[in-house]
Amino acid sequence: MSKRPTSFLGTPATAPGPLGPDMLRAFGVIRKNPLEYLHAVWREYGDIAQFPVPRPPSYLVNSPSGVRRVLVDNARNYSKSTIQYRALSLVTGEGLLTSDGDTWRGQRRILQPAFHHSALEDIGSHVSEATERVARQWAGLPIGTVIDVDAFMMGAALEVVAASLMSTDLTGRSSDIAAATLEALDVVVARARVPITPPGWLPTPANRVLRRSVARLDAAVAEMVEARGSDSGEDLLGMLLSVRDDAGRPMAISEIRDQLVTFIVAGHETVASALGWAWGLIAAHPQVGDRIAQEADSVAPDRVITFADYRELTYTRAVIDETLRLYPPAWLITRSALGNDVIDGVHVPAGALIIMSPWLLHRHPQLWDQPDEFHPERFLNEVERFAHIPFGAGPRLCIGRDFSYVESVMMVAQLARRFTVRQPPGGQLPEGDPLVTIRPRGGMPLIVEPR
Ligand code: HEM
Repeated sequence: MSKRPTSFLGTPATAPGPLGPDMLRAFGVIRKNPLEYLHAVWREYGDIAQFPVPRPPSYLVNSPSGVRRVLVDNARNYSKSTIQYRALSLVTGEGLLTSDGDTWRGQRRILQPAFHHSALEDIGSHVSEATERVARQWAGLPIGTVIDVDAFMMGAALEVVAASLMSTDLTGRSSDIAAATLEALDVVVARARVPITPPGWLPTPANRVLRRSVARLDAAVAEMVEARGSDSGEDLLGMLLSVRDDAGRPMAISEIRDQLVTFIVAGHETVASALGWAWGLIAAHPQVGDRIAQEADSVAPDRVITFADYRELTYTRAVIDETLRLYPPAWLITRSALGNDVIDGVHVPAGALIIMSPWLLHRHPQLWDQPDEFHPERFLNEVERFAHIPFGAGPRLCIGRDFSYVESVMMVAQLARRFTVRQPPGGQLPEGDPLVTIRPRGGMPLIVEPR
C-alpha cells in the first residue's frame, strides 16, 4: 500500500489511499479483522484516507477535527443511510438508532425524557438489584471455578435495560432474548462485511436465522406490551404508549416494536461488552481492582453502593472510561454525505461514505501516551473532547450515555469491593473480535473469588 491513486473508475480521488489491487489483496484481512485493516490504512495514509471504491466514494476519517466536522459542526450534512445502519435496521426497523431527519428529530423529542436525570435514580436501583443477583451467584461458586464473566454481564445488562425502560422482569427469559439478539446481530455483521448479499426473501441459512431470531424478539416485545395493558407508566414503554400525534392517534404497534427492539439491541450488548472488557482488564491489573474496592469502601462504608454515590466514584469512572477507550463497543460510526463538504482540508463529494472508528481514534499515538496500555489515571484529568468518542458526539450522541455510566460504574464498584477477579493459569486478555460490538473472542474466562 504505497501509491497515491488519482481516480477510481472516473471518480476523482481527493485523498491518498490504497489502490484497488492492494485492497483486493487485503480482502481476507478485511473480512477476518476489519480493525486491523483500518489500522493499516491509517498507518500508511494518515488521518484522512480514501478507499479505492467508486460508489460510494469512501473515506476513513481519524482526527478529532474531522470527527467534529462530521458529527457536530456540519452534522446536518450527514445521514445514517449507510450499509452499516441499513443492515442493523433489518433487526431494529426504523428506531431511534437508524432513523434520520425529521423522523429522527420527532422520535428523539418523545424519547429523551426517559433518560432525564430523574430517571437515572430509578435506573440506579435496577442496577443495584441486578448487581446483587450477580453477587449471589458469584458468592456460591466453588473456589477456583472459571466462569465466563462476559455471559454474566450480558444477562445483567439485559435485565437492567428491560427493567429500567420497560419495567419488565426479564430475569427468567433474559438468556433467550440475549441469544436471539446476538444471533440476529451476527447475521447483520456478516451482511455488512460483504458487498453483495442475497435478498432477504431468499431462504438462505443466514436469512432463516435472521427471520427466526427477529421473530423471537418480536414475541418478547409483544409480551411486554401486552403485560403492560392500559396502564402506561412513566418509563420508555409508557411514553411510547401514551404519545399521540397531531390527529390524536397513538403510535402504531410496529413503531413501538421498532423502538423497543432498538433499545434492547443498543442498550444491552454495548454495556455488557464494556463490562466484560473492564473485568478482563482488571484481572490483568489486580492493583486496579484493589483501588476500586478502596474507593467503594471509602465512599459507601458498611452499605451497598447506591445511585447517590455514583458521582463520587471518580476512579471507578476513570476505569470505565479507559476501558471504553481501549475497547469501544461501537467501534465503527458511519455517515453518508448529503452534500459536498471539506473535512480537514479534503474535498468530500455528496454521496460519500464517511467511516470513523472510535477504536482507531482512541489509539492514535499523537493523542494518547502509550496508547495501547491500560492507564485509568489518564482520565482523572481532562482529555481532549473529540479524541474520546465511545458514545459518538453531536446531536446523535448516544441517548443512553449517562445510563451506561451509572450502570457500569455502580456495578463494577459494588462487585470489585466484594470479589477479586483473576485470569486462569496461563490465561491472557482475549483478542477483540469486531462484530456489532467488539467481543472477546472465546468469552471472558476468569476466576472470581470473594475478597
Ligand atoms: C457502553 C455502552 C454504550 C455505547 C458504547 C454506546 C455507543 C453509542 C454510539 C457511538 C452511538 C452513536 C452512533 C452514531 O452516531 O452513529 C449511540 C447511539 C445510541 N445509543 Fe448507545 N451506547 C451505549 C449504551 C446505550 C444504552 C444503555 C442505550 C439505551 C438504553 C443506548 C441507546 C442508543 C440509542 C437509542 C442511540 C441512537 C441515538 C440517536 O441517534 O438519537 N446506548 N450509542
